[in-house]
Amino acid sequence: MGSGRLSGRTAVITGGSSGIGLATAHRFLAEGANVLIGDYNEEAAASTIEKLRSDGHGDAVQVMRADVSQEGDVKALMGRALDVFGSLDVVFNNAGIGGAIGPIVETEVDHWDATFAVMMRGVFLGVKHAAKIMMTLGGGSIINTASIAGLSSGVPPTAYSATKAAVLSFTKNAAAELAEHKIRVNAVSPGIIFTKLMHQGRDELAETTMRIVQPWPERGQPEHVANTLVFLASEESSFVTGESIAVDGGYLANGLLRMHPLPGAKTKPDYAGITYGLTGRPRDVRKLS
Ligand code: NAI
Repeated sequence: MGSGRLSGRTAVITGGSSGIGLATAHRFLAEGANVLIGDYNEEAAASTIEKLRSDGHGDAVQVMRADVSQEGDVKALMGRALDVFGSLDVVFNNAGIGGAIGPIVETEVDHWDATFAVMMRGVFLGVKHAAKIMMTLGGGSIINTASIAGLSSGVPPTAYSATKAAVLSFTKNAAAELAEHKIRVNAVSPGIIFTKLMHQGRDELAETTMRIVQPWPERGQPEHVANTLVFLASEESSFVTGESIAVDGGYLANGLLRMHPLPGAKTKPDYAGITYGLTGRPRDVRKLS
């Protein structure tokens, strides 16, 4: 057995054929885990497994076609991990789509429901069937992918953002309910991460948006999220549950007035010192050169 932080552990990753899920599969394998990827896209899953195996991971990585919105598929996915690797220690409920787009008054009920089916029902089913197995094994770590879209307003599409807010609420309640079984449930909330789902081939537009809303000057990469996943999956976070960790280059730290400064406001302050409000004490402020 290797000496990685996830050595000997078994992880299921949904949506693991692309973007954040794939980067996490790479990191988990490098940390010594066995990984079962579940993905809707059979073709992508096949080429993922080929690539990961040619990278030397051999039978430590397996894939299975699964639609996270279907209970039978999710149950079978968790069961497969147990059958093939003999345990189930970590589940990353990460599969996602853009979902319904457009104004609320133009949104079809079917599109709304299909968005929730993947993004919220998928997470519920992942937690349900992971927990059923983990309860019998003495515990585990479940991580759900939420988003900054669930933590702030003004991030379209509306249906997508609503599912992510629901995922955050569900994560807290699941953490409280499952704590007695030593099953931790946390969320990761990515900011702007350059994956196909995010830029949809419009790389320049994504870059421009990023420069307006994100203080950190570099692009968010799937690997940034994957590194946080290693922490949440490993014993290093053994007392962390019901938490959401934003991986967003300071997006949430960036208040509205920073993005849209008031008329006449400087982008960087040109003064420093202290003011004492209504105390009557004189202010002590100096101009910066
Ligand atoms: P991606 O499109 O690169 O990967 C998503 C994967 O999920 C794909 O492999 C896709 O085939 C799979 N998938 C979709 N529907 C599925 C279903 N019903 N069953 C099983 N697999 C399914 O996307 P990315 O960017 O890696 O997104 C991963 C997660 O991160 C999603 O939940 C997304 O909402 C979330 N996220 C992404 C952000 C970003 O900027 N990229 C920001 C915040 C959250």
